[in-house]
Amino acid sequence: MDNDILKVLYSKEQLHEFNVKLAAELKRDYAGKYPLMVCILKGAVLFMTDLVRELDEYVELDFMDVSSYGGGTESSGDVKILKDLDTSVKGRDVIIVEDIVDTGATLVALMKLFETRQANSVKVCSLLDKPSRREEEVQVDYVGVTVPNEFVVGYGLDYAEKYRNLPYIGVLKPEIYSK
Ligand code: PRP
Ligand code: MN
Ligand code: MG
Repeated sequence: MDNDILKVLYSKEQLHEFNVKLAAELKRDYAGKYPLMVCILKGAVLFMTDLVRELDEYVELDFMDVSSYGGGTESSGDVKILKDLDTSVKGRDVIIVEDIVDTGATLVALMKLFETRQANSVKVCSLLDKPSRREEEVQVDYVGVTVPNEFVVGYGLDYAEKYRNLPYIGVLKPEIYSK
């Protein structure tokens, strides 16, 4: 797998630092609130499991599978709910946990949904933010780091379902796409 990577953007150590920083912000804002943290599968799974380990607070975890991408690198523009939450968000303080905010389509759909379901508050915590690709106006309340407009993989992020298990985030060699 490492052989397919052109360059490492964020090492395991840097990712840990982002998690520590974000956890401190969440602790400050959610102390005593017992938020419902919603991991958006599959990309956010590594991020959320590391992030919550840094949070010395009571939280509830749930998972939702929303997909806006096909097999390639471009967004198809529509968002499908593949797996819904087990928990009711009504009256809850929801934190949407994402690996990356790209066009914003996924988040816009989720914000609307949780509003309809009468969450008390909905905030977004994303490890990566890629504002250069934004098509929808969305507020990302907690951001690990802003990334350049490059297709990144690893630490949950895939290309055609591969590379999610890399412990760092990197950029693929161009020949990988042309295969
Ligand atoms: C990716 C990523 C975000 C979303 C961001 O998920 O993990 O959830 O796209 O894109 P957007 O801002 O343009 O909506 P994807 O749909 O590829 O599913 P995955 O997490 O299972 O890879
Ligand atoms: Mn995703
Ligand atoms: Mg994907």
